[in-house]
Amino acid sequence: MIKINENYSKLKASYLFADIARRVNAFIAANPQKPLIRLGIGDVTEPLPPACVEALHAATDEMANRATFKGYGPEQGYAFLRDAIAQHDYAARGCSIEADEIFVSDGAKCDCGNIQEIFSTDIRLAIPDPVYPVYVDTNVMAGRTGLNKDGRYEGVLYLDSNAANGYVPAIPKASADLIYLCFPNNPTGAVATREQLAAWIAYAKANKAVILYDSAYEAYIRDPKIPHSIYEIEGAREVAIEFRSYSKTAGFTGTRCAYTVIPKTLMAYDSAGNAQAVHPLWNRRHTTKFNGVSYPIQKAAAAIYTPAGQAQCKALTDFYLGNAKLIREAMAKLGLPCVGGDNAPYIWVNTGRDSWEFFDLLLSKAQVVCTPGAGFGTCGEGHVRISAFNSRENVVTALERIAAALK
Ligand code: MLT
Repeated sequence: MIKINENYSKLKASYLFADIARRVNAFIAANPQKPLIRLGIGDVTEPLPPACVEALHAATDEMANRATFKGYGPEQGYAFLRDAIAQHDYAARGCSIEADEIFVSDGAKCDCGNIQEIFSTDIRLAIPDPVYPVYVDTNVMAGRTGLNKDGRYEGVLYLDSNAANGYVPAIPKASADLIYLCFPNNPTGAVATREQLAAWIAYAKANKAVILYDSAYEAYIRDPKIPHSIYEIEGAREVAIEFRSYSKTAGFTGTRCAYTVIPKTLMAYDSAGNAQAVHPLWNRRHTTKFNGVSYPIQKAAAAIYTPAGQAQCKALTDFYLGNAKLIREAMAKLGLPCVGGDNAPYIWVNTGRDSWEFFDLLLSKAQVVCTPGAGFGTCGEGHVRISAFNSRENVVTALERIAAALK
């Protein structure tokens, strides 16, 4: 008899953004005449940077020609892209990351979700709250947690992020083996200082733990004191894996390209306590389960690192940060305390009421979609996340509608 993976039954019925989409679709079906503005899921709206489009066209032409056609590429990514990443995202910021420590993939979501496979199931997880739900849900699926009791899974060390700690969780007293961190943070938009990251690295070293560092939103950092990569901090090569994505950097949410860095100096331990390099494990997993990102998409991603690509991506992220500023100002005018939006495309708003209730209110009264904070964890209750990803016109209209709805 075939049996299901019963860990799935511990999960909430559907993934947060699927749940929201279902409610939004029901609203649209019932109110077809009311046009919605989506400031919920962090999905970009502006077109790809011209440098990427040009590279995509040129690479497509190469695929159309027998002499330049490409079949399977290297699973880990083409050298032209891995070299550009190593040079521009790491060497230029003083980080020593080699090209062969970089694994190109089709998304940071998949990598963040899949990485847990290479670690034992009997490890202690430390996961922030609120948090991008993928980190928790993939570990529930893998059987690393108990049941969900009052919104929290048994066996997980939750790291509360709240106004009191500036939405950067404090170092826990208890030990953990696998630690998830995300800065600039999804959902709160908070950023971590060098000192805060150094403290996490020291904690990971003391616990022989690994930090999974999601920096998918690093392109939004404008404060020059804030590190873009965890490898800017000494010792990170021994304890941290970093995830990056072109989704929000260059509008690649539909195009799909990202990468994960696993330094060769990063160790985990076998059951006898012997140190084992993690890099070969991920390489084995990647080559077994993944056949690489398509050549045209990697060419488009490499174009991000050309001078024109860099300027266009900066203009793109500046544009969304302009939206974020408008959202913050509007929330302040409405007397709703909020954080984020200055080094991140998300604004975390303290609504002072039930987050799903506030979501429903904005949907029904303003036809604006946001993300209820409770969907990111128990500490998210009382908040909503507003995304800056939309056209200027839509953001301005959405803010006018929200102001009218809350009058
Ligand atoms: C979000 O809205 O949190 C993100 O768009 C989700 C993602 O990047 O997968």
